[in-house]
Amino acid sequence: PAPPLVDRHGRTISYLRVSVTDRCDLRCRYCMAEKMTFLPRDALLSLEEMALIAERFVARGVRKIRLSGGEPLVRRDAIDLVRRLGRHVGVGLDELTLTTNGTRLRAFAPMLADAGVRRINVSLDSRDPTTFRHITRHGDLSQVLDGIEAAQAAGLTVKINMVALAGLNEGEIPAMLAWAGGAGMDLTLIETMPLGMIDEDRADRFVPLTRVFDDLSRRFTLAADAHRSGGPARYWHVAETGRRLGLISPLTGNFCDSCNRVRLTTEGKLFTCLGHEDQVDLKAAIRGGGPVAVDNAIDAALLAKPARHDFSIAPGAAPAVRRHMSVTGG
Ligand code: GTP
Ligand code: 5AD
Ligand code: SF4
Repeated sequence: PAPPLVDRHGRTISYLRVSVTDRCDLRCRYCMAEKMTFLPRDALLSLEEMALIAERFVARGVRKIRLSGGEPLVRRDAIDLVRRLGRHVGVGLDELTLTTNGTRLRAFAPMLADAGVRRINVSLDSRDPTTFRHITRHGDLSQVLDGIEAAQAAGLTVKINMVALAGLNEGEIPAMLAWAGGAGMDLTLIETMPLGMIDEDRADRFVPLTRVFDDLSRRFTLAADAHRSGGPARYWHVAETGRRLGLISPLTGNFCDSCNRVRLTTEGKLFTCLGHEDQVDLKAAIRGGGPVAVDNAIDAALLAKPARHDFSIAPGAAPAVRRHMSVTGG
């Protein structure tokens, strides 16, 4: 069998993130500009090619696959990819999961559960309808809350992702933690990262999670929790709710030493770091050479995986990388 995936810094890659599409039905202000140019459809991998590439990773020791985007559920037939990869759950894969904005969960949740998905992350940056609409530009809060309910009714474990934004939702964080916990969900807070041009200055919205944590630890009884989800979050147990608080702090607490991830884009590029341009073209490999060529390209990519990102958020600064989060799949 092909050897496992270990990079030059000794990190084993066990987690593949796949951006199923760079498109989205929302336009969250920290993620996208109002007017976006999306990838041309003829540049995209077919879902069959995506599955074949993902299966090479499973053969090479990847245990967790997360489908994201953009919004994965806006790609036509995305559920077919979920079903196909779902066949590996419990065999090669420990987990097949999604990060979604929740707008289409009412329809898709039962199919996701049937396909072998056990847990999903739903992005929800506000529970105030006006703030939610402002942050997402197009979103309808009730649709997402309904989607979350549908997911839970289908038996999926839901975790809420919330990007902390100064002057927009920072004041809502304690209430969000209490609400999520009360509804049986963990809440993960995320520091905004400098990817892609947006219409405002990220520095105006950046909230260091160190500050949020100080505030939350005055309001809740938080105890370090050894739980690891395979992602970059560090967790705290919240005594008042019995659920967890997760913190993803790429700016105030770099976690790259323990990175276990690579990212496949909808165009078939493999990015080895969210914060760098390093990439190989797996579309060319699969179309030109098949599985062996894909394996060779993956090996070449891993040799060049950067040690760490060097994100910083300074007033007026250009983003660290030009592509948007939705291209790389977060
Ligand atoms: P769990 O499986 O629940 O741990 O999820 P996850 O944190 O792995 O995935 P999710 O899609 O929910 O991502 C949450 C946030 O973490 C997003 O903003 C991602 O961009 C960010 N994130 C995930 N991996 C990395 C990483 O390697 N580097 C950086 N800087 N951010 C990451
Ligand atoms: N910085 C941090 N998180 C982001 N997300 C999207 N763009 C950014 C950004 N620039 C989040 C979404 C979603 C996850 C995949 O990434 O809110 O929860
Ligand atoms: Fe869409 Fe997620 Fe980006 Fe919001 S953060 S625009 S929901 S991809």
